[in-house]
Amino acid sequence: MSIFKKKPTQELSLSDIALPAHVGIIMDGNGRWAKKRGLPRSAGHTAGAQTFRKIARYCSDIGIKYLTVYAFSTENWKRPSDEIDALMRLFKDYLQEAIRDFKDDSIVLRFIGDRSAFSPELLSLMQENEDESRDRDGMVLNIAMNYGGRAELVTAFRDIADKVKDGTLSPDAITEQTISDYLYTAGQPDPDLIIRPSGENRTSNFLLWQSAYAEYVIMDVLWPDFTQEDMNSALIEYAKRSRRFGGI
Ligand code: FPP
Repeated sequence: MSIFKKKPTQELSLSDIALPAHVGIIMDGNGRWAKKRGLPRSAGHTAGAQTFRKIARYCSDIGIKYLTVYAFSTENWKRPSDEIDALMRLFKDYLQEAIRDFKDDSIVLRFIGDRSAFSPELLSLMQENEDESRDRDGMVLNIAMNYGGRAELVTAFRDIADKVKDGTLSPDAITEQTISDYLYTAGQPDPDLIIRPSGENRTSNFLLWQSAYAEYVIMDVLWPDFTQEDMNSALIEYAKRSRRFGGI
């Protein structure tokens, strides 16, 4: 992977290209954004949450069908408790706002990851948001919280093993589709494009199984500074790639 540098003038615009159905975003660089300004890391997350609101809305407006954002990984619990508390507050604020203000919205909210670690308050907000938005017909917004690609696979393999043990699934019947069906993203298309701002060349345990053929666009911008124009650049870069899925 290498950093994709924006060209000064884009020769294509969004109206010229086919959009990916499913976009994933690793919202990285909040800490560095804050450090550059002499602010606490929590200020970077607050700014990142604002960017998330704008970009999620923009993706829905331009017709992206599925958006998955990496908000909190299974490894993020290692961070100092004040940073974790600040992130939990931001999640709560957003989920309360979504329930209160997004009544006529078309976005379907889903949460992917292991929920067991969250407070009862956050858990009920997640449930409420999923229930409220389930029958909408717009973009599916997956928010990955306490998500890890390996942990997701372990859970899927355990569930599959249970089925084999109780005799309802034969090992010979297990296919790639079976694995996909046991993931948090069951029933959704795999991501076509994964955007990683902040210039890091890592997958960081994000959608490990689902991203087998995703195009990665790594961008040299910190997440709080990420704009609609950056989103357009990533979509145009994606459209220029030749996807062969192992063929020629
Ligand atoms: C990674 O940047 C970012 C996170 C661990 C948190 C992402 C959360 C948000 C954008 C805000 C809340 C989201 C919602 C859904 C309301 P980093 O802190 O690791 O950055 P660094 O690598 O520069 O330190």
